[in-house]
Amino acid sequence: MADQHIYIDEDVGKDETANGTQDVPYKTLLQAMIQHPGASYQTRKSETGTVEEGADPSSRLEWKAPTKSAMKKANNLYEAHKKKQAKAGDLALREKAEADKRQAVLEEAKKVILEEDKSLPAPVRIKLDETDPSKITLGTKDSPGTRIRVLGRVHHLRSQKDVTFVTLKDGYGLMQCVFTGKLTKTYAAMTLTLETSLEIRGQLMSLPAGAHAPLNRELHADFFSVIGAAVGDKDAITNKVTQDADNQTLLDNRHLVLRGENASQIMKVRAAVLRAFRKAYEETRTLEVTPPAFVQTSVEGGATLFSLNYYGQTAYLTQSSQLYLETCLPSMGDVFCISPSFRAEKSLTRRHLSEYTHIEGELDFITFEDLLVHIETVITRVIDITLDDPIIAGYIKALNPKFERPKTPFKRLRYSDAIEWLNEHNILNEDVEEGEQPRPHVFGDDIAEAAERKMTDILNVPILLTHFPHEIKSFYMPRDPEDNRVTESVDVLMPGVGEIVGGSMRIHDYEELMAAFKRHGIPTESYYWYTDQRRYGTSPHGGYGLGVERFLAWMCGRFTVRECCLYPRFMGRATP
Ligand code: 4AD
Repeated sequence: MADQHIYIDEDVGKDETANGTQDVPYKTLLQAMIQHPGASYQTRKSETGTVEEGADPSSRLEWKAPTKSAMKKANNLYEAHKKKQAKAGDLALREKAEADKRQAVLEEAKKVILEEDKSLPAPVRIKLDETDPSKITLGTKDSPGTRIRVLGRVHHLRSQKDVTFVTLKDGYGLMQCVFTGKLTKTYAAMTLTLETSLEIRGQLMSLPAGAHAPLNRELHADFFSVIGAAVGDKDAITNKVTQDADNQTLLDNRHLVLRGENASQIMKVRAAVLRAFRKAYEETRTLEVTPPAFVQTSVEGGATLFSLNYYGQTAYLTQSSQLYLETCLPSMGDVFCISPSFRAEKSLTRRHLSEYTHIEGELDFITFEDLLVHIETVITRVIDITLDDPIIAGYIKALNPKFERPKTPFKRLRYSDAIEWLNEHNILNEDVEEGEQPRPHVFGDDIAEAAERKMTDILNVPILLTHFPHEIKSFYMPRDPEDNRVTESVDVLMPGVGEIVGGSMRIHDYEELMAAFKRHGIPTESYYWYTDQRRYGTSPHGGYGLGVERFLAWMCGRFTVRECCLYPRFMGRATP
């Protein structure tokens, strides 16, 4: 070997593609040694090599044996390389041996067939949160517990040598299940993955002293079967939705995110809040109606309407069911609805969705003061009903530890006072034309989201913000009889979120309403059914709309409304 020359050109050689000839040399002596150990090496620096004074620059091209120090350095590196290789080889061998061993154990495990002991008592089927003592008794070391049968998915898994702890979840609760003996030796137990659905049977026991588990009990399994294994390895749920995953990944995998503790708690609070609204409305004799989603009129201006081809005509997805609710008053009394509303919002703020759940109420024969009191009563009643459920209260505590029932009466603030307050606190209007500088607020400004939130966060209490100027409000809002510049209108603002409710009295005089349509440039023909309301026995009435996702973002302390609905819809996203 030593008589073979291997060439290294430190300037133009390429370690990756070299073969060691003069035409295709290596770049480093180390790589030449690795590929051709024990050869005789010839080196040069064909472009940067030093040339002796007076010598021809082409002498750089001459090949020379490496210097002693270069050989020593390369030899040291080569020895280190060999050691590393040997170590890696050992590791690969060990890993292969482990894998073979595990495979052999798994092959053995496949032969372990679990059979239910038919002499055991027939199990009682329970949900994981059930505690009814007439149905189940916890066993102790002196007395047997009820034999039960539970179904759910693996939420948490911990395997020790001869015992496997499975925390099962079923949407109702969690249960610690303990596999021992033959159960842990089965192929199914050895390859169990998170989210796998299982049926488990066994005795329900109290916990040993000092141990912790949901509802202070555990299921000592005597039999289990896999209903649907969940994919593992790189597709395991924990690899799909990691703590540090970016927002897009989490949104694409919302169906898996919803299985997590936080998201499922928010969804349960959401269900409880919807239930509480229905209860609060029942208590105030307000009846539920279900208005249409396809409409041909706008309520809150044309800019945020989604339009569609409806059998050759233009129709829209509803922005608000208010106008329909108004038509129900004569026959049904006070009414409410819980329906989706759609807004073609072009902004991607943390509190705007393109589809949201809108709770709207409409009340007949009322004054503006009645409306304010009603809104405050419904909100506080909903909070009370929701928190009366200890499980839901626990979720809210976990999600938003600082949450407290707001004090009543809510702070009331007129729009004109809010403008003054903003200026006193140097909160500028940043919602200005391009090129303009932020400036102090003036009467007539639409208080922008950022300023509104700053104010709400500083005041840190719910606010009934009232009497907005008519220029910035919807066509149907009547003027305040005492100040013609402003309307009988109200927004409810909550700390951390800002506006969660928008409401007002409605113009109830026919002529006045027609004039308002005209002033706003809205053709009245398609609103005939709405304006008729004023022709067939009109009445002073008013109502409001509340965004459920914003209410939840406030109650659950969430940064964005996107976390407060099942599958958020906003500009650019309608999947999954
Ligand atoms: O203030 P808004 O636009 O009022 C109305 O639609 C009235 N017609 C309601 C009525 O009087 N019946 O909307 C009412 C509430 C807002 O306060 C907010 O909570 C929510 O609906 N909302 C939105 N929530 C999420 N995303 C959006 N794009 C929203 N737009 C309004």
